[in-house]
Amino acid sequence: MGGEFILPRTASLEDPLRLAVLISGGGSGLLSLLEHQSATNCKHRTVLVLSDRESASGLQHGIDSGVKSAPVPLMDFSDPVVQRTTHEEEIHRLLIESEVELVVLSGYMRILTPWFVGHWKGRLVNIHPSLLPDFPGAHAHRDVLSAGVTVTGCTVHLVDEGVDTGPILAQQSIPVKSNDDAESLQDRVKQVEHSLYPQIIDMLSSGEISL
Ligand code: GRF
Repeated sequence: MGGEFILPRTASLEDPLRLAVLISGGGSGLLSLLEHQSATNCKHRTVLVLSDRESASGLQHGIDSGVKSAPVPLMDFSDPVVQRTTHEEEIHRLLIESEVELVVLSGYMRILTPWFVGHWKGRLVNIHPSLLPDFPGAHAHRDVLSAGVTVTGCTVHLVDEGVDTGPILAQQSIPVKSNDDAESLQDRVKQVEHSLYPQIIDMLSSGEISL
């Protein structure tokens, strides 16, 4: 299913790629990206932060950086299909309105429909806290611990129509310690995510990634 991946244009310092970051929670990944963008000469900038949850504290990181930041909660429809498509249509409308060129999922906890993915394919990137294809889904750290593996990590990938699938752009591994729980593992994986994701977005913006 689905069409081709169309990568973003090759951007420049003078004309950086326009990013939207989609979050659902605390937004530590968003914060690391915003810090990277203000600390380095990079070819991308965040122009929009959206959250599906009104309570997402990470929205404040966007606001603090002067970036247009808004919750887009699910609307009240009894039909879940209508609810989902209406929500995605609103997100898509906001992305177009802000002339977004790359959509960065950073702890966004909703699965996107093929309709949405089809519009953004190749310009829709995700970070997942495991070494995909192992441990997809919302509980990667818990699943890593119950499987008893000794190495985990994170994966940056282009999003396709599946769940935590799509071309892998980068992975970084870290050891699982014998005394790790899901929280300690998450903390250590996030540290790695916070340097890997901005680096890969740098590469995508510079045209250094091909499929
Ligand atoms: C990250 O570990 C990311 O990989 C996962 O959700 C977490 C988001 O954390 N998809 P935060 O909201 O950026 O702190």
